[in-house]
Amino acid sequence: MRIEVLPDAAAIGRRAADLVAAELGSGGLHALGVATGSSPSPLYLSLCERTLPGWQDVQVFALDEYVGLGSGHPQSYRSVIDREVAGPLGIPAEQVHVPDGDATDLVAACSSYERVLAEQGGVDVQILGIGVTGHIGFNEPGSCFASRTREVRLTEQTRTDNARFFATVDDVPRSALTQGIATIAQARRHVLVARGAHKAAAVRAALEGEVTTACPASALQRFPDVTVLLDPAAASGLVRHRVQV
Ligand code: GLP
Repeated sequence: MRIEVLPDAAAIGRRAADLVAAELGSGGLHALGVATGSSPSPLYLSLCERTLPGWQDVQVFALDEYVGLGSGHPQSYRSVIDREVAGPLGIPAEQVHVPDGDATDLVAACSSYERVLAEQGGVDVQILGIGVTGHIGFNEPGSCFASRTREVRLTEQTRTDNARFFATVDDVPRSALTQGIATIAQARRHVLVARGAHKAAAVRAALEGEVTTACPASALQRFPDVTVLLDPAAASGLVRHRVQV
């Protein structure tokens, strides 16, 4: 695991974009796994500012989607990915895959998502954020490391954290479909981005704590190729990793 501390959100975005662009340039990016939330936005912005050839052939896989929000809702992850990633990069709509949180049969929707992922040969580069609860995707504490795409109940902490994207906390869905930890683990490489003092405890637990389902992001310690990009505040709890700012 490589950990880099960068001065601010824009620098994290540029560095993450460098990593993704290098994969695209070398022909190694058949499928990009995208996270939503505020942390990866500067990365997508930085990618969109570069005029890189090859995006029209890339598949995009979302980590998760709210249940019952409606894919046309501006805060559905389908909408966010279309707006921030696929649209500006010119990736055709049929190459953008998001779990179907509107399906009447959610179990079937999850199986179908896993099937498409497998058919496409899996994700090459997976972008990850981390929740205050230590979640990756929407794998909240207690999520099994063998978990696959499924419906999960969101913690009140996560609903409160994500309320900033909605009019009130009551508008935040109570559950979501998320790739499981084992699904996420199958990506060839992972890039985790986090910033802010409110993430410091989760970052420390994930990178330096015991590998435990109490902190789902601690599973990253067992992934083979992980790059972590932090701002100084998010890195402030690290003790074992002596990182240069
Ligand atoms: C949401 C997403 C996660 C994301 C997390 C952190 O809950 N499901 O994939 O990592 O938020 O978001 P932010 O970067 O906005 O703090």
